[in-house]
Amino acid sequence: MLYLYSPDQQELYGRLFREALPDLPIACWPQDVEASAVTHTAVWMPPAGFFSRFPNLQVIFALGAGVDKLLRRDDIPEQATIIRLTDAGMAQQMAEYCLYGVLHYQRQMDVYQRQQRASRWLPQATRLAGNIRVTILGLGQLGTHVGQTLATLGYQVNGWSRQPRQIEQIACTHGDAALRKLLPETDVLFCILPATQETRHLLNAERLGWLPADAAIINAGRGSLIDQSALLKHLDQGQLRFALLDVFAEEPLAEDHPLWTHPRVLITPHVAANTIPEEAVAQIAANLRALADGRPVTGRVDRLAGY
Ligand code: NAP
Ligand code: GLV
Repeated sequence: MLYLYSPDQQELYGRLFREALPDLPIACWPQDVEASAVTHTAVWMPPAGFFSRFPNLQVIFALGAGVDKLLRRDDIPEQATIIRLTDAGMAQQMAEYCLYGVLHYQRQMDVYQRQQRASRWLPQATRLAGNIRVTILGLGQLGTHVGQTLATLGYQVNGWSRQPRQIEQIACTHGDAALRKLLPETDVLFCILPATQETRHLLNAERLGWLPADAAIINAGRGSLIDQSALLKHLDQGQLRFALLDVFAEEPLAEDHPLWTHPRVLITPHVAANTIPEEAVAQIAANLRALADGRPVTGRVDRLAGY
């Protein structure tokens, strides 16, 4: 049995799963079921202790791309396989989000906003896409699509990952030394890494200081990637042009947090790329069939690596 937890969209998911998998028994939280019958779950942020109820749980499907919250829990049985969504309609949204930030930078909308507030008519110098250096931290399902979309539009795209990668249209690098070289050569830094122990505060005061003072940061990965206090300090000191932030150390961002009112900050409430239920269900159904046939699945999480 597949047990579903997505309180906001329970009905929609229930219907989509039943249509896609007519032969599979499906139950939706908080439906009472024989706990031992549940072998699979599809979830987004279920309450603490949720998984402990199911002694025969084999597979957990995450209804999102990031699994940091799942991996921090203590109720997931060791033998359970965790499978996340790969793209499932998110890569295009992420490319749009990043492009919005890059255009904000390139067309100097932050400067014109400030000028407008002062009723100042002052054309800025033209900057062409080919002269804008975009660095993508994270070359997975999302980062790769974002990078290739920007490269197709003429931007210079560099990418950085954990292991060496070769991706068409993206100059790929990896490792600390490469990051040291890359950050000073970056105009727009796009962060789309997962939250792991290794990526926590990757952008600390020292590394933020490696960026040119005119650079912009877009963070759509996870809040933990950036040391928020260090970021605020850099913005205060004018060492960054602006930050477009979709994710935060604590979500929702506290009402009195100084980031809300900072003149160099644009905030969105974790919406850079939302799960598209139809695509999510199609992908999970395909993975369920692959598991049944002994074929490889997409999005199997490496619990040790943390993503
Ligand atoms: P993915 O396919 O797993 O890709 C992760 C990328 O990060 C890989 O290129 C990986 O390197 C790299 N990476 C991981 N640890 C690293 C490290 N220590 N140093 C350098 N690179 C490292 O993930 P995805 O599907 O692209 O999603 C990425 C993240 O986006 C998710 O984990 C989630 O946090 C976030 N997200 C946010 C939203 C939103 O709305 N804001 C929506 C969806 C996802 P390798 O290639 O070497 O493995
Ligand atoms: C959203 O942040 C996701 O990880 O899917």
